[in-house]
Amino acid sequence: MGFPSKALLSALQYRAEPSDIFVSAYPKCGMTWVQNIVYLILGDAIPLAAEQRMTELFPHLEEVGKDSINALPAPRLIKTHLPFVMTPYHPKTRYIYVARNPFDCAVSFFHHTRGFPKHYDFADGTFEDFFECFVAGEVDFGDYFDNLTSWYAHKDDQNVLFLTYESIKLDLCRAVLSIGKFLGHDFSQNESLVEMVLHHSSFSSMSENQDRWSSPRPENMPAFIRKGVVGDWVNQFSPEQTRCLLEKCSRREQGCNLEALWPDIFAMARQHC
Ligand code: A3P
Repeated sequence: MGFPSKALLSALQYRAEPSDIFVSAYPKCGMTWVQNIVYLILGDAIPLAAEQRMTELFPHLEEVGKDSINALPAPRLIKTHLPFVMTPYHPKTRYIYVARNPFDCAVSFFHHTRGFPKHYDFADGTFEDFFECFVAGEVDFGDYFDNLTSWYAHKDDQNVLFLTYESIKLDLCRAVLSIGKFLGHDFSQNESLVEMVLHHSSFSSMSENQDRWSSPRPENMPAFIRKGVVGDWVNQFSPEQTRCLLEKCSRREQGCNLEALWPDIFAMARQHC
């Protein structure tokens, strides 16, 4: 992991409060998008100001450790990439988990890893190299399947809202309203508020304000809010890589029906290889 191990050890000791709101995801699965939606819902749809940074308002538990989280005002907004078993738990705490199909996740993670050269030293890395590491689970924050299956097992828990990136893409309004309801903010009757949340969480609005979501990236690298497309992996994967990831999916499902989560993606993958 790219963060200091001291912060991780401290993070694991954090005691979740009933009023906490966690957003959890494996890297590159749409975490920032959902963080922004939560932030907008709780804050009357007022977007981050030019000088504000999401990472300060909605910090990453494993990066900052427990003391920084304890210093936040309630309700604490907390981001994590930890699998369920390692995430600080309280039965009244609310957890929103975002899953994304492993194909698009791998491509997005590749660009992310290239784009932080000081952190990862992978600026000239190839997709072939990254893909091998991804399939082996040897990337930042560990194995995609360990993370997803640990949360999937809790997808029907009362205090867990399990979403997919693709479902948010398909119907942003529906996703926003279900997140609002889950957080106890049913604002479905307030059309102007809904409109404002949708506007400020749209891809175009978020990509105009890149510096609010991430530290700067070198000019020759893709932006943090990069493409936001479902199924774009097909332009990056070779048929052999597609076959390899399909095989890995069937080996690692562990009770998590990946194909039911992403039927179109799996149909596309079978055609591609
Ligand atoms: P791509 O690299 O495929 O474009 P995370 O926040 O977990 O790091 O996820 C980043 C991914 O979410 C990136 O995917 C990014 O473009 C996408 N994303 C962020 N905001 C989005 C939005 N408003 N609409 C669609 N996709 C978004």
